[in-house]
Amino acid sequence: MIKIRKCTQDDIPSIIKIESLSFKYPYPSIVFYNYIGKNFYVGELNDRVVGYAIGDAKRHLIVSIAVHPDYRRLGIGRALMNAILKNMHDYAILQVRMSNKEAIKFYKNLGFVEKELLKRYYIDGEDAILMFKSLD
Ligand SMILES: CC(C)(COP(=O)(O)OP(=O)(O)OC[C@H]1O[C@@H](n2cnc3c(N)ncnc32)[C@H](O)[C@@H]1OP(=O)(O)O)[C@@H](O)C(=O)NCCC(=O)NCCS
Repeated sequence: MIKIRKCTQDDIPSIIKIESLSFKYPYPSIVFYNYIGKNFYVGELNDRVVGYAIGDAKRHLIVSIAVHPDYRRLGIGRALMNAILKNMHDYAILQVRMSNKEAIKFYKNLGFVEKELLKRYYIDGEDAILMFKSLD
């Protein structure tokens, strides 16, 4: 059964592993430690942490989301997004790599729309798409 709950210190090693399996340029662990106690949730499947999501309500920003590659397409990403979006108001934005077609489909499925192209947004020169969703 999928369980969504707030992230604690003990979850960080699992999150770092998921992060390294999910991104070419993973966030350093300090980013995760800084969001503990904030809008930071993990998804558990049979007591194993298999995904996380972070939202920043002040900046209206989806900071990051990832699900372990072995546990994708099970609805965990959607459940995590719903948990963090509940704590955000008015609107939410995010940046996604142009090449990340799976994530773009995922966000569109959640009601996000493509708003703007951010040229050479990433360190390796790739463009980002700014996506937007109206909330409340
Ligand atoms: C994006 C990500 C978090 C989605 O997590 P997930 O748990 O697999 O997503 P869900 O199972 O909740 O998917 C919900 C819906 O989104 C869409 N979707 C998700 N992944 C998709 C894919 N690979 N291709 C097409 N549609 C997809 C589908 O409509 C899906 O519903 P369905 O499975 O009933 O068809 C996951 O693919 C991931 O961790 N990717 C690597 C990290 C990443 O790119 N994060 C975003 C950075 S901006």
